[in-house]
Amino acid sequence: MLEGGSVGESVALDGASTTESGGWSHRHILSLDHFSVQDFDTVLQTATSFQEVLSRRTKKVPALQGQLVTHLFFEPSTRTRSSFELAAKRLSADVLNFSPGTSSLTKGETILDTAKTYLAMGTNIMVIRHKQTGVPQAIAAEMDRLNTGVCVLNAGDGQHAHPSQALLDLYTLCSVVDRDRPRTDNLRGKKIAIVGDVLHSRVARSNLWSLVASGAEVHLAGPPTLVPQDFGGFLGNNRPIPIHWTLDDALVDADFVMTLRLQKERMGQFLLPSLREYHRQFGITRDRLKLCQPSVKILHPGPTNRGVELDSDIMDDPDLSLVSCQVTSGIAVRMALLYLVGSGKGLGT
Ligand code: NCD
Repeated sequence: MLEGGSVGESVALDGASTTESGGWSHRHILSLDHFSVQDFDTVLQTATSFQEVLSRRTKKVPALQGQLVTHLFFEPSTRTRSSFELAAKRLSADVLNFSPGTSSLTKGETILDTAKTYLAMGTNIMVIRHKQTGVPQAIAAEMDRLNTGVCVLNAGDGQHAHPSQALLDLYTLCSVVDRDRPRTDNLRGKKIAIVGDVLHSRVARSNLWSLVASGAEVHLAGPPTLVPQDFGGFLGNNRPIPIHWTLDDALVDADFVMTLRLQKERMGQFLLPSLREYHRQFGITRDRLKLCQPSVKILHPGPTNRGVELDSDIMDDPDLSLVSCQVTSGIAVRMALLYLVGSGKGLGT
């Protein structure tokens, strides 16, 4: 367990490394396709310890004291950037925030040179978001090539991956089943319907890896333009994912419904007749939720289009909606990720 409540107090980091981060081998967290079930459980257990820290009056531990965490967000973000920043501060790291609009990018500097500038300032961990797939991977490869020891966390790249969102979703789901012991095993056999704009969603892609690895029964639902048939083979042909082009089939007996934002900024062409029609066919309403398990809970990574992906009153109903819990869980989960890579546990790849 992590001990010590405030900056300057000693924290049993070695204890944490054996009980919680044993076997951790990732220097970077770029996607979840290489994560083992043990890796997922390590994140869940480490996040549980940090959740306990966050319940104290002094919510800060010195785990990353003296380390520099730089947030390179080349794409807008509210939740993810603030959550990573708070997580880094709660671990006592120094934090730099980069804003593309007021940076030398506007003078023609390349992204790699921006990253190297922050490297020269002594950055230990880079948290990177970019609208192009592969940018965090490219920076991580350059950091490795230069033998810098810098760790890169992908905070969302294009339509490819959003590991920290999927991990906080995993933590939220597992905590609903057992608040005190969130473990991947808690999701074995649970039916989880992922509904909406799967095509453009890095959140859905990352969640597929973690939820299926946990033994959940994942179903995808949405219009064929947003959930194409070939998505069923996303995890490989030996793990087909059921696809539904009508919502009700996906909702029957579901334990959880994960809704996704219609990502209009990523749609090259008009893929829907209208938002009203989308809501009529795929919007989550109280009536439709009667098809699910009585204990059903709804998730959404945010930001939401209120009244489109789900009815506004469902989103605000704490008995149904896990949206705020997702945001809260994000801090402990991101503390866990920063801690796992930043405390030298992730010396592999
Ligand atoms: C998601 C993202 O940026 O991919 N949001 C988030 O990080 N909370 C989902 C989205 O933008 O719809």
